Amino acid sequence: MTTTEPRATGVARILIDEDVIRLRIAEIARELDEEYADSVPLLVGVLNGAITFMTDLMRAMTVPLEVDFMAVSSYGAATQSSGVVRILKDLDQEIEGRRVIVVEDIVDSGLTLQYLLDNLERRNPADIAVVALLKKDKPDAIQVQVDKVGFTIPDEFVIGFGLDYAGKYRNLPYVAVLDPSVYAEN
Ligand code: PRP
Repeated sequence: MTTTEPRATGVARILIDEDVIRLRIAEIARELDEEYADSVPLLVGVLNGAITFMTDLMRAMTVPLEVDFMAVSSYGAATQSSGVVRILKDLDQEIEGRRVIVVEDIVDSGLTLQYLLDNLERRNPADIAVVALLKKDKPDAIQVQVDKVGFTIPDEFVIGFGLDYAGKYRNLPYVAVLDPSVYAEN
């Protein structure tokens, strides 16, 4: 099925259709299957935004793997990164000696990911890779490790496929641009 029309109020336009996302996730999964053929990687999903990407990615992979989650907060209800990162939920397991794959929905300023990587590296994993569905094309973003990117996108506020505005729109099956009138009202 191909999505042709936005179905939610507040969607300015669809940026990446669900069929295109599915195909790209399948490509990333094949690459990861090859790179982790001889190991059991631990996929670390960064809640809440990564839920959709995480569940699709893990189902597209075929190597034996485990999953765990961290919950961090950087935005609150605003549309800009604050630079303040809080760990709301930590991993349930030790990662010393493990091959870790951090799964993120979006790298924007890079602050959240930098904080997470610093934090996880101190736990002495065998290695860490970062897979992000989206990365903003943003010259002033900090340089941070991202090993695989699904899509590089313009610096607009995006929603859907796990990404929210003030907690909503995560359920949209595509990535869309939020109509600026939505946040102009608040
Ligand atoms: C979003 C997103 C990333 C982070 C990226 O999380 O999921 O974790 O912001 O932004 P940055 O690169 O500017 O740090 P958010 O804090 O909005 O929480 P959420 O995942 O629950 O939506």
